[in-house]
Amino acid sequence: MKLLIKGGDIVTHEKTTTADVYCIDGKIEAIGLNLDVAKDTEIVDATGKLVMPGGIDPHTHMQLPFMGTVASDDFASGTAAALAGGTTTIIDFVIPSPQQPLIEAYHQWKDWGSQSQCNYSFHVAITWWDETVHQDMKTLVDEHGVNSFKHFMAYKNAIMATDDILVSSFSRCLELGAVPTVHAENGELVYHLQQKLLEKGITGPEAHPLSRPPIVEGEAANRAINIAGTLGAPIYLVHVSTEEAVDAIQYAKQNGQIVFGECLAGHLVVDDSVYQDSDWGKAAAHVMSPPFRPKKHQDALWKGLQSNAIQTTATDHCAFCAEQKAMGKDNFTMIPNGTAGVEERMMVLWDKGVNQGRLTPNEFVSVTSTNAAKIFNLYPQKGAIAVGSDADIVIWDPKAEKTLSVDTQYSKIDFSIFEGMNIVGIPVTTICNGKVAWDNGEIKTQPGDGKYITRPLMQPTIRAN
Ligand code: URP
Ligand code: ZN
Ligand code: ZN
Repeated sequence: MKLLIKGGDIVTHEKTTTADVYCIDGKIEAIGLNLDVAKDTEIVDATGKLVMPGGIDPHTHMQLPFMGTVASDDFASGTAAALAGGTTTIIDFVIPSPQQPLIEAYHQWKDWGSQSQCNYSFHVAITWWDETVHQDMKTLVDEHGVNSFKHFMAYKNAIMATDDILVSSFSRCLELGAVPTVHAENGELVYHLQQKLLEKGITGPEAHPLSRPPIVEGEAANRAINIAGTLGAPIYLVHVSTEEAVDAIQYAKQNGQIVFGECLAGHLVVDDSVYQDSDWGKAAAHVMSPPFRPKKHQDALWKGLQSNAIQTTATDHCAFCAEQKAMGKDNFTMIPNGTAGVEERMMVLWDKGVNQGRLTPNEFVSVTSTNAAKIFNLYPQKGAIAVGSDADIVIWDPKAEKTLSVDTQYSKIDFSIFEGMNIVGIPVTTICNGKVAWDNGEIKTQPGDGKYITRPLMQPTIRAN
């Protein structure tokens, strides 16, 4: 398995250089000009293109059983979409049902994940607590390469982690050297507001953002950060969507706390007007949590990315089709929460970030790949173009154009929150584990070609920058 990427400009989080990249057996063997390569080497011409680390999406939910249904993209279709968008690694979530042993849930997800076409890894959610959970966290860390645990502060009566669970689990993470992560929304307030809206007869998707106003996220973000800060634990906030949460992260970082923030491609470019659509299906297709926000929050997210308050971009890819969304036809609280985006994330970040002058190409690499690799201890195995690193690479044509649409997406669902968005600067070839995995519109992999990625422990004292 020998492959030479020839004639491109290599863009990493640190610098841009002109050189060829020689890959052997899934690893980067050499970088330079006029390299000596074996006769049987496959040549990929990257003239006029950029050669960047493959994307890492640290937040996806393939085939998640959720709210009475199962997300429509499974690991095979969802990871094909990832590759088509230049993403070579996803970090998905094992989410045990309350009282389900963590190890049992882990094996269930591992079995599903074995159909992946790109590389995959898992965070594990802490949805309940007892001594066995405390024990199983160590087993996951020691034997299964899990170094991050997720806590949903929302979804009352389902998977919500209450403050006592946060304290126990964050303390355990600290002991083990794992990273605690949170979905920061006050689940009690969301539940209360949902009941009030239903009592008033407001049952449509327009009620979804009303039940989850920005302060509900701001409160939970501050609480999670303060709990972690009191314990001395680091904390990673997933899908930050509000100015309030960005401010909370910024404040804590200024006070020396180790806090990481993630935002979603969707939250950066879609606003809350989508919930006013007179077409119920379109409004419902945008129901996700946290919801899309008024424009000023998008500005805060971009500034957060620029100022390193937010280090990573993700998608929360959790795809439900119209039929599934219709489960909440008479009650917005029953619309399965989630939207897709794993294919579009890097294109959106390039077009709205780099082309609009908000991010440099090197910063683009940081926020789409390298920072996630650093925070979740995959760097420099991933997130890098360096000798010895995994040959997970995207070849990017900064001049080529594409209009995002449900008609051309790999996701199985019948909707795109990015419909009609014209993008300048798109992936043309994705290389995963040293092999061409997607090229000019064609998937070259099979389900099962992706590798399970173990992530060793560390105290995340490396600040992504
Ligand atoms: O609406 C969402 N985000 N669905 C997936 C579960 C979660 O909260 O991440
Ligand atoms: Zn969430
Ligand atoms: Zn999620």
